[in-house]
Amino acid sequence: MRKADVLLGLQWGDEGKGKVVDVLTPEYDAIARFQGGPNAGHTLEFNHEKHILHTIPSGIFHPDCLNLIGNGLVIDPVVFMEEAERLAAAGARVRENLVISVKAHLILPTHRLLDAASEQAKGNDKIGSTLKGIGPVYTDKTAREGLRTGDIQRDDFESIYRIHRDRHLAQLQQSDLSYDLEQLEKEWFEAIYYMRSFKMGHTDYLANNLLKDDKKILAEGAQGTLLDIDFGSYPFVTSSNTSCGGLCTGLGIPPNKVGRVIGISKAYCTRVGSGPFPTEQTDKTGIRLREQGHEFGSTTGRPRRCGWLDLVALRYAIMLNGVTELVITKADVLSGFDVLKIATSYRVNDELTDQVPYDLTSVSEPVYQEFPGWTSDISQIRHAHELPHEMKEYLRFIELHTGVPITLVSVGPDRAAMIRLTD
Ligand code: IMP
Repeated sequence: MRKADVLLGLQWGDEGKGKVVDVLTPEYDAIARFQGGPNAGHTLEFNHEKHILHTIPSGIFHPDCLNLIGNGLVIDPVVFMEEAERLAAAGARVRENLVISVKAHLILPTHRLLDAASEQAKGNDKIGSTLKGIGPVYTDKTAREGLRTGDIQRDDFESIYRIHRDRHLAQLQQSDLSYDLEQLEKEWFEAIYYMRSFKMGHTDYLANNLLKDDKKILAEGAQGTLLDIDFGSYPFVTSSNTSCGGLCTGLGIPPNKVGRVIGISKAYCTRVGSGPFPTEQTDKTGIRLREQGHEFGSTTGRPRRCGWLDLVALRYAIMLNGVTELVITKADVLSGFDVLKIATSYRVNDELTDQVPYDLTSVSEPVYQEFPGWTSDISQIRHAHELPHEMKEYLRFIELHTGVPITLVSVGPDRAAMIRLTD
């Protein structure tokens, strides 16, 4: 029986996973999402057009690829409808090639309001949530009070909805948030009726049967390992398991059926929202990385915080996920820097450590190794032997200090801007 491969972000999200999935999709029969929801924004670029996906897997533009939305996802019907319509207009076979798990959870309009109220109440300590309702919907899921996509086929769906809504409204009474619930509900129910015409099913059986039939599945993670609810920089994290275990619980693939684990990391580091970020550069280096890398959130448009590559955090993410190969993205963004830096250890309480501490804010400073930069524009390079010597040295250092081979390097947003280093 075949094993499912998985592709995951190893940082704080935005590693460029959508593009890598899109490039790898021709090798696969099915692409599956297993956690997260509309907080994700996977960007794909081809034929000079940019497409952003929030809920639908990144294999949707390939006409023969099946796309699965696993049980671990949380779906906002309004976001889903807008996305499905947009993709269909761009020529994607959304109705034919997409199956939604009946066990995925639904984001209600009041989940979004609760998210906003929770952030408002936290003031300066806010998480910097995308305000898509992620925290409240996963809270309801674990409290065993959620609504699932399978419920939308029930005759009494509207009355069950009202029970959940009223429970949320009681919680919202403590906030001074203003909202027009009637309008939000109108849009939401319109989107629910729209979703009813899509294929829904048992993606757990479907995925396992595909493997039995020797079909190839690639599971596409959302967010990144450092945002994992258990292993991330808690409480500044998202509410799902973004690391490899999320594949087992969010799609129904057993651990012994996990094959390649493809880890994605930018050549530097970014973070959007609040929370500790040891290698963040708030000076002109950070501004330059943001400008050269166009580092603005694809879901919220917020400017991303930027800094040097953090090998302490990267090695932790590799360990947690069992990464078998690395893909380095946005390497072209580093062109033109005289000196590049990589953090190899942290100073915590005057001691050096190469482990991620319990509290990431306890890192007083990262210890850096410096590298000479390269001046040439590498965005048009397509073969490894043409890369500048300095860049090869930079990549070799990452391989050496993580013990994992780099198989692909991305040097631009387009599908074609990808260099294969090893098979
Ligand atoms: P939430 O998942 O919307 O609750 O946001 C929690 C934290 O995760 C915030 O710091 C967000 O900025 C961050 N986050 C959530 N989704 C993404 C993503 O897809 N990319 C990058 N950061 C994300």
